[in-house]
Amino acid sequence: MRNINKINYEKHIYPNFKKILDKIYSSKAIREYIYGTLFIKPQNYQISLLDAKNALYSKRVLILENKIISGCFVQDIGNFEVINSIQKFFKDKNIIDICAAPGGKSILLQSLGFNVLAIDKSTNRIRKFEENLSRLNIKMNIQKIDFLKKKFTDKFNSILLDAPCSALGTFRRNPDVSVKVEQSLIRKHQKIQIEMIEKSIKILNKKGFLVYIVCSFHPFETIDVIDKIMQNNKNIKLHTIDSDKMIKRKNGYFINPLSFKDFGGSDIFFVSVLEKLK
Ligand SMILES: C[S@@+](CC[C@H](N)C(=O)[O-])C[C@H]1O[C@@H](n2cnc3c(N)ncnc32)[C@H](O)[C@@H]1O
Repeated sequence: MRNINKINYEKHIYPNFKKILDKIYSSKAIREYIYGTLFIKPQNYQISLLDAKNALYSKRVLILENKIISGCFVQDIGNFEVINSIQKFFKDKNIIDICAAPGGKSILLQSLGFNVLAIDKSTNRIRKFEENLSRLNIKMNIQKIDFLKKKFTDKFNSILLDAPCSALGTFRRNPDVSVKVEQSLIRKHQKIQIEMIEKSIKILNKKGFLVYIVCSFHPFETIDVIDKIMQNNKNIKLHTIDSDKMIKRKNGYFINPLSFKDFGGSDIFFVSVLEKLK
């Protein structure tokens, strides 16, 4: 058996990993917690969708006991915090989830009372999404669409964009992200993320809300993306999120994994709430 204490992971870490984290998390306590849990496999959680009254994660999360019970969807607790804290912005409960597969956020939204149109371009990921829905015994409108190619005739009031990214924030479950991620790849992600937000803004109604999420803490995919969007779009207002489990940075929020210490930490997500003013 491997002795985890004997492996010197430090030398394998993506050289900029610490530098980037230090930029985002000014609190030493948070940074030390993150470094301390870098290679510790997270506990898994089940989120029950069976009881609508128990909608908050504190009640809904149960420790997984080596099996997925039907009616439950396993996902990181940070995911729930993000969706729970932004749901109030979506006054129109008909929401389009642009990068939806395998369904984590769509399913949470549906369980919170939203009517979700879920789109994704990946056949394989949609298959996984359908398996999840079938296990949960729920239905949802899923469409295989490449968002960047599709010509939309309708406009929307509520858009969720959980964009493709480096997934740096999932380092506990995927330690390879911290060593493999290349600056050039992150730049490519940034280009797509900006393209997706620009297109989302075009199909957003006046007074409509767009929530941008990535499971990354790299400034290129988070703060810089929103900076560029704000420079190009004078009709966008950013909104404040009320959550004691996230930290605010220039134009968005990062999950604070330390606030989930009792649950074994969490993945890191970035989230920004955009309203189209005119
Ligand atoms: C971060 S994952 C989404 C995770 C999902 N929201 C969840 O919570 O389970 C990003 C998704 O974007 C999809 N995607 C990437 N480019 C796309 C495009 N042009 N149109 C639609 N979906 C796209 C990928 O197939 C992938 O499933």
